[in-house]
Amino acid sequence: MRAFQKVAEKIRLDIENGVWRIGDTLSSERQMAQQYQVSRSTIRRAWEELETMGYIKWDAFSPPQVINVPQWPTAIARSSLTQWNQTQTKPVSSFLSDLMSAAASQARFNFEIGMPDTSLLPIFELESVIRELFTQRTREVFSYSPTAGIDRVREAIAEEFLGRRNLHLSPDHLLITSGSLQALDLLSSLWIRPGDIVITESPTFAGALQIFRAHGAQIIGIDVGTEGVNPAQMKDALSRHDTRLIYLQPYYQNPTSVSMSEATRQALLDLAISYHVPIIEDDAYGFLAPGHSLPLRAYKGAEEHVIYINTFSKILAPGLRVGLIAGPPDLIYQLTQIKQLGDLHTGTVSQLLVEGWLRSGNIDQYIQAVRKVYAERIQTAKQLLPQLGFPIWGNPHNGFYVFAELPRSLSALAFHQYAAKRDVLFAPGLAFGTDDQFRHWIRLCVSTANPMAIHTGLARLSRLVKAYKDAPGSFGL
Ligand SMILES: Cc1ncc(COP(=O)(O)O)c(C=O)c1O
Repeated sequence: MRAFQKVAEKIRLDIENGVWRIGDTLSSERQMAQQYQVSRSTIRRAWEELETMGYIKWDAFSPPQVINVPQWPTAIARSSLTQWNQTQTKPVSSFLSDLMSAAASQARFNFEIGMPDTSLLPIFELESVIRELFTQRTREVFSYSPTAGIDRVREAIAEEFLGRRNLHLSPDHLLITSGSLQALDLLSSLWIRPGDIVITESPTFAGALQIFRAHGAQIIGIDVGTEGVNPAQMKDALSRHDTRLIYLQPYYQNPTSVSMSEATRQALLDLAISYHVPIIEDDAYGFLAPGHSLPLRAYKGAEEHVIYINTFSKILAPGLRVGLIAGPPDLIYQLTQIKQLGDLHTGTVSQLLVEGWLRSGNIDQYIQAVRKVYAERIQTAKQLLPQLGFPIWGNPHNGFYVFAELPRSLSALAFHQYAAKRDVLFAPGLAFGTDDQFRHWIRLCVSTANPMAIHTGLARLSRLVKAYKDAPGSFGL
């Protein structure tokens, strides 16, 4: 380990052990150089390392501030084996695994986890698919299958799923992944080296940020406006940074549910082409868009510049863990070689279930129905939150989420713990930002609650905010 890495490791442990907390400013460069008996440039390199890992933010004008404290759960005793870890490239933010615990929570108002409303699922169709699979195709269902995905499943996805998104691709352009998180991880393994610049919207999907950071990327965030990111800001960022890739969600983006206008989409694609930077287009919520809408990948000239990823987690069921990457066959081949090392292939049962559903002949009806339901829920939350004193981001018309602002003095992370004990769950905003500007914002997933539950839950949230602010020794930062 080099000197700066040793220092970064010590500071990292201090952060994890609570010596430094979120919002704290670290000691000055000079003080730290004295403390660790190293040069000031070594301290700066250590800070850069910690910034890349997502623990602190700093720039030439302001001292480093702690923005993220991955918790080592107190219930887990530390064994000496965890001390063997020689690398520090993978930060241990527990954001995604915490979200997964929220999925199992019995809280009455669970606005935390982003998933479809399972009561809307086409259970009869799924049941008959499962019955057929388990009784007539037993051997196939329980076997290994090709790493890139089962051929007939790739065909069904190309025809029935991507076709409906106006993407016309042959199955050899597809890799079936274990959720689109794996798609992001595979693409990052192939493309990102420590220190590379990745441009994303800000706020954006926290899981993507977590993966890019874990691969050592430095993230540049571009503000999300009511029509998506501003192309002029993107151009400015591209001209100033030698950028490795751009990650975008053009439709109903997580966490704001803002969609890009047609003009924004075209302008961003033109920029990516002229700066020779690939775009990862994440279309997880694209099924909510009107039938004629086009993903970036369907635009003229996009084939060589846009890698498209999608998932069945939002349209069908996240527990299936079926996602996909659409790209040129040579790239798909490279990604398949990486995937074989991780999980060999995506679960055969899940893939065949997705295929059966796609071929059931009823998916248009289902998509129409869920679009209507989710639009109504977004509408309800969008009207209610400002009335309760919480401004929301943008003007979403559909999607799973609203991104809402709590009083500035409040740390959403600290309030999250308080509210969770009182039956209300949400996702703290900090994790969705490329810096700490969203520490008093929250993401509320409203796709799983009917309008009545949204009313009751949000009213309760509002009461909790008041009680929390008034509580003696209130924890707002
Ligand atoms: C924009 C976006 N991309 C990807 C994912 C990951 O989904 P999965 O790995 O379940 O496919 C999510 C989940 O919330 C998401 O919101």
